[in-house]
Amino acid sequence: THVAVLQGGISTEREVSLSTGRGVVAALREAGFTVSPIEVTEDLAALIATLQQIRPDVVFNALHGRFGEDGCVQGVLDWLGIPYTHSGVRASSVAMDKVAAKAVFAAHGLPLAEHRLVTPEELEAADPLPRPYVVKPVNEGSSVGVEIVKDGDNRRGEIARNWRFGQKVMAEEYIPGRELTVAVMGDRPLVVTEIGTGHMFYDYDAKYAAGGSRHTLPAQVPDAVAEAARQAALRAHQALGCRGVSRSDFRYDDSTGRIVLLEVNTQPGMTPTSLVPEQAAYCGIDFAALCAWMVQEARH
Ligand code: DAL
Ligand code: MG
Repeated sequence: THVAVLQGGISTEREVSLSTGRGVVAALREAGFTVSPIEVTEDLAALIATLQQIRPDVVFNALHGRFGEDGCVQGVLDWLGIPYTHSGVRASSVAMDKVAAKAVFAAHGLPLAEHRLVTPEELEAADPLPRPYVVKPVNEGSSVGVEIVKDGDNRRGEIARNWRFGQKVMAEEYIPGRELTVAVMGDRPLVVTEIGTGHMFYDYDAKYAAGGSRHTLPAQVPDAVAEAARQAALRAHQALGCRGVSRSDFRYDDSTGRIVLLEVNTQPGMTPTSLVPEQAAYCGIDFAALCAWMVQEARH
């Protein structure tokens, strides 16, 4: 089987994708596939020409963020008739839009943090929610653009004036406590990882700097909490119509027992510090086997 690995791209997560792609290329070669790495740039015509020329059996989508994770590249691949890994157009675009995704999750009874959508001007004028709250872009990943506005914090105006992530800002209740994540592989939720960071949340540096965060798996939480997270991850994956692998992120307030779904990532990172490969390994699936399984699940 000939697999083309799409990596790089033009989103804010380009570097993350290059790291994901490097690992995936090596793993697929180890698993015996013929692999063509393709670095995606602004030149869509060049990408299409390359794919038409090499005609891979499967595309491994190692892109993250805008155009790679939001249904756009998935639509191109559907049009070309090339099977690809991970979710299709609809699940990808709904998951990437935090507003649309929350509407779907709410309709399925999944537990969510309170949230409000405001313009940067409205944010500049007033707190959209009681403090502390989180502001985040509607369409980014890797915590790019995420800020926490705490009591006594006077950065709200500055955040609003410098907003560069579109016409809307998602304001979300800050859930104190702990950060949990669960990967889903097909119809199987893997294990719960707790992410410990010295930061207020799992931010970009904590995600990708070696030693930036501490992963505990399985998470040291009550069995009922772990099971609730695993079942919520599976339901969220199914509610969006995800395919292959996804990863759902949660906050867990251990003073109240409340658990809240933050989001589903349809193109979870596969870098050396990423969570999905670690969970798969814990479940006895090494990185090469994980990548090979994803290729086998590919559809268009
Ligand atoms: N957006 C990054 C790649 C993740 O969710 O892992
Ligand atoms: Mg994300």
